[in-house]
Amino acid sequence: MSIVLEARQVSKNFGGFHAVRNVNLRVQEGNIHALIGPNGAGKTTLFGLLTRFHSASSGSIFLKGEDITAKGPAEVALRGLCRSFQISSIFPGLTLRDNVRVALQRRYGSSHQFWLPSRVLSRFDDEAEQLLDLVGLTSLAQRLCSEVSYGRKRALEIATTLAMQPKVLLLDEPIAGMAAGDVPMIVELIRSVAKDRTVVMVEHNLSVVESLCDKVTVLVRGEVMAEGTYREIRDNPAVREAYIGAGYEV
Ligand SMILES: Nc1ncnc2c1ncn2[C@@H]1O[C@H](COP(=O)(O)OP(=O)(O)O)[C@@H](O)[C@H]1O
Ligand SMILES: [Mg+2]
Repeated sequence: MSIVLEARQVSKNFGGFHAVRNVNLRVQEGNIHALIGPNGAGKTTLFGLLTRFHSASSGSIFLKGEDITAKGPAEVALRGLCRSFQISSIFPGLTLRDNVRVALQRRYGSSHQFWLPSRVLSRFDDEAEQLLDLVGLTSLAQRLCSEVSYGRKRALEIATTLAMQPKVLLLDEPIAGMAAGDVPMIVELIRSVAKDRTVVMVEHNLSVVESLCDKVTVLVRGEVMAEGTYREIRDNPAVREAYIGAGYEV
């Protein structure tokens, strides 16, 4: 198994505050790798560093062995490393199908032309159908995004990210805020999209981590506290203390 994504001694300071400090992370190709830790631990910042939305204060980032530390976020996305975008990047007034078609045309470099006429967008119809099918939204394709549940919006968000054809997909709290009934749908969706790509996910729900993830990295106050399988992490006294101290159940 090869390492597809690697952070070496990566740090990020915000005005002297160390949000991420000397983090080493090695993600194996094909894994679902969880990033866990209390709120404020630096998980989202680390995602921003990996995808080059943030520039690192120090350290290096490698994608498939290539140093991407100096690359921009669009370049990194085209090389196959994509994070799911926040739900606000979904257009509520468009149908689910049109949201996916707009995301597909982004891949072809026309990101600012979301008003393209529908005959141009229709080029992407087949691919849009496949993506909607993959995330279980085919029957809702014609519905407006504003009309569907939060869970379906998160599934749509994953479809629009998959439109970029990522080899490595970063998901930041994919089930946060979701009704309990929608959680199994997203868990199964993650399992299925992970079949032919690598997934790194921030997740607070530890039973989801246990059922989905091959490996877990624990971040506390910007630093890696532990790394291992879920079982190893769960039995680590320092992790238990950090979690219990922060009010989480382990
Ligand atoms: N743009 C920023 N400017 C200043 N501080 C930030 C910025 N982004 C995040 N932080 C701080 O960095 C720390 C880590 O934040 P974050 O990465 O969002 O944590 P997590 O995702 O683990 O909850 C927090 O204390 C947060 O307030
Ligand atoms: Mg976060």
